[in-house]
Amino acid sequence: MISRRECFRTVAGLPALRAAQARPRNVVIASANGLRACNRAMELLRSGADTLDAVLAGVNLNEEDPEDNTVGYGGLPNEDGIVELDASVMHGPTRRCGAVAALRNIKTPSKVARLVMEHTDHVMLVGEGALRFAKAFGFQEENLLTEKSRLAWLVWKQSLRDRSGHNNWTDGLDAPPGKPSARLRELFPHVDEATLAWAWQVAMDPPTGTINCLALNERGEMSGVTTTSGLAWKIAGRVGDSPLPGAGLWVDQDVGAAGATGRGEENIRIAGAHTVVENMRRGMDPKEACLEALRRVARNFGNDAERLAKFDLTFYALRKDGVYASASLWNARVREGKRVPARYAVNDGEGGRLELCAWLLERK
Ligand code: GLY
Repeated sequence: MISRRECFRTVAGLPALRAAQARPRNVVIASANGLRACNRAMELLRSGADTLDAVLAGVNLNEEDPEDNTVGYGGLPNEDGIVELDASVMHGPTRRCGAVAALRNIKTPSKVARLVMEHTDHVMLVGEGALRFAKAFGFQEENLLTEKSRLAWLVWKQSLRDRSGHNNWTDGLDAPPGKPSARLRELFPHVDEATLAWAWQVAMDPPTGTINCLALNERGEMSGVTTTSGLAWKIAGRVGDSPLPGAGLWVDQDVGAAGATGRGEENIRIAGAHTVVENMRRGMDPKEACLEALRRVARNFGNDAERLAKFDLTFYALRKDGVYASASLWNARVREGKRVPARYAVNDGEGGRLELCAWLLERK
């Protein structure tokens, strides 16, 4: 027979005493590229803003920032050199969600996702329809490909080879002697060594960076957003986890919120964000809820570390009582020969900071 205490745990989704005692507080968490987003969202929460307004204002900074190459304007393009954006939003108090996928030419897909939520009877619009919808609401079309992203895309095109080492996008047999990188410099005269090295890095190791941002306010309300340019060099029309409610984002006002960044395909295969929230409902703390979801990902590969080493995936979880955590498949990633520990951004009213993620597997 289920005890009265167990009943509180399972029905409310939180340990009963903690839920009764906890006074909601303002907390924002995000992926590591979301420190500014957390700080902006916290400013808004302090002024009494709705949690969805707060997280959107936060991630809009990344979407509009040409230096964040995994989100919005300046995001790395698909294999045709066209930036396609995915985003989803969820509003805890009204239990509504909206999403767009494969949206071209609009810098801020998260704003369009919100309009889908608020002004349609649908949850998700994609591609041409999503673009027409955005324009109907006054969004202007813009070229989202920056010079830096175009350079990276061209370097990727030039890196592809057939069996004889040939590539139609680089020097032909009739080219004058010299290195292809010199030709790239002619095309991009302002490019420096560091940018060229970065272009090679992302060409060889296509990033799946994204921003997820989750918020709780003093009224106990929660919202979340996930927005991305998706996997670099993807096939046109590829949709990742970010716009899929239940994969890249899930908010249940009774329990908490979760989101993800990293390789979307592996997250979709375990409905990751929903799994994390359901783990919390069953009594796991946010860290264990994220780790348990990552164990499912590892299970899908027979726990084969060699195959799992080919990608990364990070979950973020914020429980309704303000307890939060993040866990990554790997403890660190290697970027330009350097080991970078997995981190995430937090602002709980004590200032914005990066904290270390928990992790499932250790990269030696
Ligand atoms: N998580 C971003 C993507 O895979 O598209």
